[in-house]
Amino acid sequence: MNYVMRVRAFAKINLSLRVLGARADGYHDLRTIFQSIALHDTLTIRAARGPFRMTCDDPICPTDDTNLVWRAANHLWKAAGRRGILRDVSIDVKKRIPLQAGLGGGSSDAAAALRALGRLWRVDERRVRAAAGVVGADIPYFLEGGTVLGLERGDLLFPLIDPPKAWVVLVLPPFGVSTKEAFGWWDADTAAHRGGGADPRVRRGADTEVGPNGVYEFVNDLEAPVASRHAAITRAIAALRKAGAAHAAMSGSGSAVFGLFVRQSDASRAARALAGRTRTTTLVTRTLDRSRYQTLAAPEPIG
Ligand code: C5P
Repeated sequence: MNYVMRVRAFAKINLSLRVLGARADGYHDLRTIFQSIALHDTLTIRAARGPFRMTCDDPICPTDDTNLVWRAANHLWKAAGRRGILRDVSIDVKKRIPLQAGLGGGSSDAAAALRALGRLWRVDERRVRAAAGVVGADIPYFLEGGTVLGLERGDLLFPLIDPPKAWVVLVLPPFGVSTKEAFGWWDADTAAHRGGGADPRVRRGADTEVGPNGVYEFVNDLEAPVASRHAAITRAIAALRKAGAAHAAMSGSGSAVFGLFVRQSDASRAARALAGRTRTTTLVTRTLDRSRYQTLAAPEPIG
């Protein structure tokens, strides 16, 4: 009965994120382009008799039934037709993806747990996918990986052709942003602008807009509502552009900001230039295409 599996949970950035409007179910309709990056958490799943247990090396990460990993495991346990309460498995998370950063760490951990537990409990893929969609809007993407267009809540997925690989500089401000709160700010700002005419920043339509360099750039509609409450976001984007990023934006609902670079040396130089400014942390990673993702994100039995 003792069986151990290791599974990587990769982060994502949103190359583009258009918010199309609020839905009746409390969510928002989106059109977003997800992109996997190499930064990852690592989950160790142990099958051993006893109550379910979750541990994490980051003390600020909750390890109770509010964690998406716990909720995903519980949901799959029931979907697999297992009786009684979730048990006979423990999950340890080695956390490297910062929390409340818009990098999808919690959702990716949950998807990684579903991949591993689906294998352990022999649950068919269709049920694993269904469980992912119920537990969180971002989780289905992490069963796919690579470059994917997400519609509706971000969970109606269309894999895209891999764009050229890029080096990614992440700027991590010393504060987090709650996704729910960021969407609330979008609602408030959109309603405020409705009275006085359309907000030029919130334009429905293309995934790209003319950026400050005069060329078309991807947009994130959550960026203005979040950056207007957290000036550090605007400063980080400007600094990445100044350091030569081909594109710089906030990821998801923030607080992480990313810059894309063609060359690793330019990315490293930019990360060094930005490190140490106003208590932000920087790190350099790279984009992952779908086939690399699927190879690297597969659960590995280790004993
Ligand atoms: O699905 P998840 O629990 O990750 O979403 C967190 C919160 O973010 C939701 O409760 C909702 O308030 C907001 N959200 C949204 N529209 C989406 C995705 C998330 O309003 N498409």
